[in-house]
Amino acid sequence: MTKRWVIGVIGGSGLYAMHAIEDAQWIAVNSPFGTPSDAILFGRIGEVQVCFLPRHGRGHRVSPTELNPRANIDALKRAGCTDLLAISAIGSLRENLEPGRFVAVDQFIDRTQGRASTFFTSGMVAHISMADPVCARLSGMAADAVEGAGGTVARGGTYLAMEGPQFSTRAESHMYRQWGADVIGMTAMPEAKLAREAELPYALLGMVTDYDCWREGEAAVEVGDVIAQMHANSALARATVERFVQSLPATRDPSPIDTALDNAIITAPDARD
Ligand code: ADE
Repeated sequence: MTKRWVIGVIGGSGLYAMHAIEDAQWIAVNSPFGTPSDAILFGRIGEVQVCFLPRHGRGHRVSPTELNPRANIDALKRAGCTDLLAISAIGSLRENLEPGRFVAVDQFIDRTQGRASTFFTSGMVAHISMADPVCARLSGMAADAVEGAGGTVARGGTYLAMEGPQFSTRAESHMYRQWGADVIGMTAMPEAKLAREAELPYALLGMVTDYDCWREGEAAVEVGDVIAQMHANSALARATVERFVQSLPATRDPSPIDTALDNAIITAPDARD
C-alpha cells in the first residue's frame, strides 16, 4: 500500500515559524500525555501536507528539561504525520564540525535523566529496537536538501543527549569526546525513542552553533553564541525544510518503521489492560 507523505517538522531554537507553509493554520492538538509545546501549524508545501511544531513553543518558552516530548510526539501522530524531520541546535565535539555546518545525526547516546521516555506504562510492556534510531531514507533526503539549499552537511554523527539546562563542564565535554560522541544537544532524546514507539520514521538535522567547551584556550559556549549562529542559519534551515518537502517522491513507499511495534510488545495479549 502506498500512502501520501504527511511531514511533521519539529523546529528547534530559532525555527519558530515556517513561512513557506501555505494555507497555514495553527490548531491546538490535545494529548492524553499532557500539553504539547505549542499548537501545530497545519498547512502544505506544494502538494505535501506539513505539520510544524516549534519544539520550545513560539518565543522559546519551554526549557529542554521541561519539554513534554510524549505530548509533542503523540500530538504529531494524532495530527496524521507519517514521518518526522527534527531540527536542532547542537554543540560540536569535533574540530571538523564547525559552526554553521549541519549534521544528519545517525546515532545517539542518551544521558538525559528523569524524562518520561516511553508510551508503554501501566500494564503494557514494549522493548522496541533503537539499534538504528534514525530513518536512513529520510535522513539522506534531508542531507540532500541541506546541500541543495547551499549549506554543508556531515552525513552521520553521534549525538550526545545531555539533561541540561546548564551547559557541560569541561571534564564532561572531554569525556563525551572519548565516548565517541560528535555533537551534543539537550532535546533529541527521548524524542527519537518516542518517535520510534509511535512508529514514526525520524530524522534529525543538527545545526552546529558552537564548539562546547573542550577546545584548549578557547572560551566556553554561552547562550549568545548559540542564538547568533541560529539567527545566521535560520534562513538556510527554512530553505532546507522547504527543499526537503519538495524533493519527496509523489507517493510514499512503506517503511519498516511503520510497523516497528509488531515485534516489540512483550505483554501477553490476554494480560493487556
Ligand atoms: N545546543 C547548542 N549548543 C549546545 C551545547 N554546547 N551543549 C548542549 N546543547 C547545545
